[in-house]
Amino acid sequence: MKIYEAKDYREMSRKAANILSAQIILKPDCVLGLATGSTPIGTYDQLVDWYKKGDLDFAEVKTVNLDEYRGLARDNDQSYYYFMHSHLFDRVNIKPENTNVPDGMAEDPAAECERYEALIQSLGGVDIQLLGIGHNGHIGFNEPGTSFAKETHCVDLTQRTIEANKRFFPSVDDVPKQAISMGIKTIMRAKKILLIASGEEKADIVAKAFFGPVVPEVPASILQMHDDVVVVADSAALSKIPR
Ligand code: GLP
Repeated sequence: MKIYEAKDYREMSRKAANILSAQIILKPDCVLGLATGSTPIGTYDQLVDWYKKGDLDFAEVKTVNLDEYRGLARDNDQSYYYFMHSHLFDRVNIKPENTNVPDGMAEDPAAECERYEALIQSLGGVDIQLLGIGHNGHIGFNEPGTSFAKETHCVDLTQRTIEANKRFFPSVDDVPKQAISMGIKTIMRAKKILLIASGEEKADIVAKAFFGPVVPEVPASILQMHDDVVVVADSAALSKIPR
């Protein structure tokens, strides 16, 4: 695992965007695994800037997103489908048919999970997976205690995650209680993983996940076992790692 320190959120976003753009330049038809949350917004903004300057071309790029809330329609502005379109897909020349987000409205969620997992395999797997990290160490929506052997599955969100995400909804009761998420096994199959973290409120979990024991109680800790992981974090998020 390589850890790159950035001085602040802006520099973290720029470094992360550099790594993703290198992937796109090296393999124009690559499969990007993408993430939502507030952390990647600056990374997406930077990619859009470079696209507008003519330095990046998304014409052949394919994407698979990590997760989606259950029960939110695509046009709900809190769905991850909506998030990806407004922060990235609608701002670059990616083909909509090359973008994939799990269907949170699927009537049969188990069948949707199976379809999504098969889709990732059929694309040849993920070349680089972007990840954020939840305060409890979740990646995607793999909450503490989830088996490392899970593929794409339906998840019950923990109270902590519901609380953390309520800032985006009118009230806590409006936060969905379930999601469809790539599993840890799905994430670990990515050829390369790029995890980004920013801010002091992530410092404890960053130290625990990357310098503590590898245990399902800290889902992100499994990344210590992947042979190509890059963590790009700002100084605040790295302030509690052993030096
Ligand atoms: C959500 C997403 C995760 C994300 C996490 C952290 O729960 N499912 O993929 O990493 O939030 O979000 P933030 O970047 O806003 O701290």
